[in-house]
Amino acid sequence: RAAAARSHDLAGRTVLVTAGGTREPLDPVRFLGNRSSGRQGVAIAARAAARGADVTLVAANLEVGVPDGVHVVEVSTAAQMAETCAEIAPRREVIIMAAAVADYRPDRVSDSKIKKEQSGDELTIAFTKNPDILRDLSAARVDGQIIVGFAAETAADDDELLELGRAKIARKGCDYLAVNRVGWHEGFQRDENSVVILAADGDVVRRHEGDKMSVADAILDVVAG
Ligand code: CTP
Ligand code: CA
Repeated sequence: RAAAARSHDLAGRTVLVTAGGTREPLDPVRFLGNRSSGRQGVAIAARAAARGADVTLVAANLEVGVPDGVHVVEVSTAAQMAETCAEIAPRREVIIMAAAVADYRPDRVSDSKIKKEQSGDELTIAFTKNPDILRDLSAARVDGQIIVGFAAETAADDDELLELGRAKIARKGCDYLAVNRVGWHEGFQRDENSVVILAADGDVVRRHEGDKMSVADAILDVVAG
């Protein structure tokens, strides 16, 4: 889509974007986190706003600044993100879940710092599953709402990537899934990204490679179309 056509194609649309990586506390000074910087989600929020949308960004521990002209709600844990999204989502037409959400959280959070003296040579931590925000929002989808999920997969090749993506979108029940390959040296903390966008039936609707702003536009093109 040409720049001119994109300039106002999301005018008046309400968009919820999640970005960043959740952190699950272990004790007052430690957390379990992930390598998501928030760049891709922030780029989506920025481009959606530039294309005229009314954007709310649910931001978890961003390593980058937030864009101008976007409403920001800061959260840290998956539970906080779930609660915030459940409250806001019913009033949004488009939902794009770019955040990396912790699948599990420690069973219990220690009120005081965990000490080596008490833990000994091996420390075992029990975890509980977090709510699946994307699946829950998809199950509660209101009429006409478009829900986009992300999947970062460590796949050996394109075939395996598509296979993992198709299984995931079927499990999640969202409308589109933006799938990208990650590894020790791919995907995170960088500006380049490469995505395959799948529709609910598993069809590839778009492939795109480029900086995170252009990936954002590619995803928004699918949503706007
Ligand atoms: N997601 C979510 N809530 C969770 C976990 C993930 O909403 N508790 C969302 C992410 O924001 C992303 C999508 O689901 O949009 C896919 O996340 P991913 O971690 O790839 O999926 P999982 O179902 O957690 O599968 P996996 O076992 O591969 O981590
Ligand atoms: Ca996960």
